[in-house]
Amino acid sequence: MKKWRFALPLLALIWFQLAFAQTPIIIRFSHVVASDTPKGLAAQFFAAKAAEYTSKRVRVEVYPNSTLYNDTEEMTALQQGHVQMLAPSLAKFGKLDLPEFELFDLPYLFDSYTSVHKITEGPIGKALLKKLETKGLTGLAYWDNGFRSFSANTPIRSPADLRNKRIRIQNSQVLSAQIRRLDAIPINLIFSDVYQALATGRIDGTENPPSNMLTQKIFDVQKHYTLTEHGFLGYAVIVNQQFWDALPEDIRSQLNRAMKDSTIYANRVAERANAQDLVRISKSRKTEVYKPSSEEINAFKRALLPIHKEMRARIGPALLDAVYAEIGKPTTPN
Ligand code: LMR
Repeated sequence: MKKWRFALPLLALIWFQLAFAQTPIIIRFSHVVASDTPKGLAAQFFAAKAAEYTSKRVRVEVYPNSTLYNDTEEMTALQQGHVQMLAPSLAKFGKLDLPEFELFDLPYLFDSYTSVHKITEGPIGKALLKKLETKGLTGLAYWDNGFRSFSANTPIRSPADLRNKRIRIQNSQVLSAQIRRLDAIPINLIFSDVYQALATGRIDGTENPPSNMLTQKIFDVQKHYTLTEHGFLGYAVIVNQQFWDALPEDIRSQLNRAMKDSTIYANRVAERANAQDLVRISKSRKTEVYKPSSEEINAFKRALLPIHKEMRARIGPALLDAVYAEIGKPTTPN
């Protein structure tokens, strides 16, 4: 019995260390869209890759559809460490006092995913992510969704068709200016409130890519969807900086590897999912999907392009010129 007196505490310590070593690091990844969207699917893909590459030393728990935090709450929750990872839309960083991110909201800035990637995967995108560090955040990657188009309950063939309509926007000054340019009324609403606001007539219309139109059932309460594709919707995947910096080096590098793979996956899924979801919306026969002619698109461009000049000071003239140069656009595209 005597000999066990010394062995027992040691055994307890070893047991404790083994148990502790097997406790995975938890990453709570919260987002506001459905699981079967590009962001939702990519978040699950990342969870699987993170488990695989760290031999299950990391467990990523994904909370979709604003189940944990909504648009207005999630940034603060991340900064305070209640969650560790988010992928907010780029339109939602202006409220962090980083208006540069609103460059992604500028109408008709990007005409393809290829031109988006010149920014998100190049030095400008990297420099923007670096700015997040001043807010206690680390930016890991950009993920695509798609191109925003207008919806309403009346046909949209020209900018005048949106006059006086209450159009829901994300919390972005550029998006607000854009709606005012159309003589319409911007209504800033969190994503989880959009369906109800449309169903009850509190708002008249929205702008979103097909994947969000379909998975939030917006097509159920909007009769017309016109493929204006006037702006980009993408995400920055961000983590709490303190949490990230405190991770063991080997874990962080495996998570970076998982994120690289997830970004390739996310961007591939985005293009495919939006194309498929548009077909589903069309087939539902609840919403008429209209493809505008090039003259009609030009009318939207004429109405909206002046926003580039209007928002130049807010976004930063040097940054904007660098973006135009990178994607090969004239310096003042209006
Ligand atoms: C929205 O709020 O309209 C979207 O950005 C939501 C999202 O994350 O795609």
